[in-house]
Amino acid sequence: MLSGRGSNFEAIARNIREGKLDAEISVVLSNRENAVGLETARGLGLKAVCIPSRGADRIEYDRLLLRELKAAEVDLVILAGFMRMLSAEFIDAFPQRILNIHPSLLPAFPGLDAQHQAWSYGVRYSGCTVHFVDAQMDSGPIVQQAVVAVEDRDTAETLAAKILAEEHRIYSEAIALVLRGSYAIEGRRVKRGSA
Ligand code: GRF
Repeated sequence: MLSGRGSNFEAIARNIREGKLDAEISVVLSNRENAVGLETARGLGLKAVCIPSRGADRIEYDRLLLRELKAAEVDLVILAGFMRMLSAEFIDAFPQRILNIHPSLLPAFPGLDAQHQAWSYGVRYSGCTVHFVDAQMDSGPIVQQAVVAVEDRDTAETLAAKILAEEHRIYSEAIALVLRGSYAIEGRRVKRGSA
């Protein structure tokens, strides 16, 4: 599910196509018709559906999303720049089967424009986080993180670009891990197993 550019979606789709990730994208959902990611999905021959969210009631909107996802028989929901909070009903419909990626080392800098937040704060290291989704924003047990060093010459934009490159790498890794089922969630901790 995405709301914009869709570069994370594209990286995942590429990894699948190149045989680096054993998965299938059943449907791409967007809440914005002008999301570039929707076009990319259609160009790749994938089913891509827009359900406009403007003015929609959250519960009813999420039920529309759920209907599409269930019809497509998805067993893992990937949030890739989907700019909406999900209702408890949605989250409960896919228990520990929803992943999100966030462009900071959570729990630092949740929310919008995390790369700029990190750069402004003056951290020497930032990065990105793939985590299971729970009822709070940018919360939930952490599956994978990658660290990016902040150089003196970096701007918020160059930092964001470096983080994005890592996002494109670790999201597919995290998806592979979750699809293999080779982990156990203990409290907040996602422990790697050998399954
Ligand atoms: C990424 O930075 C991701 O971490 C955040 O939203 C952005 C989406 O970018 N959740 P894209 O649409 O995948 O290019």
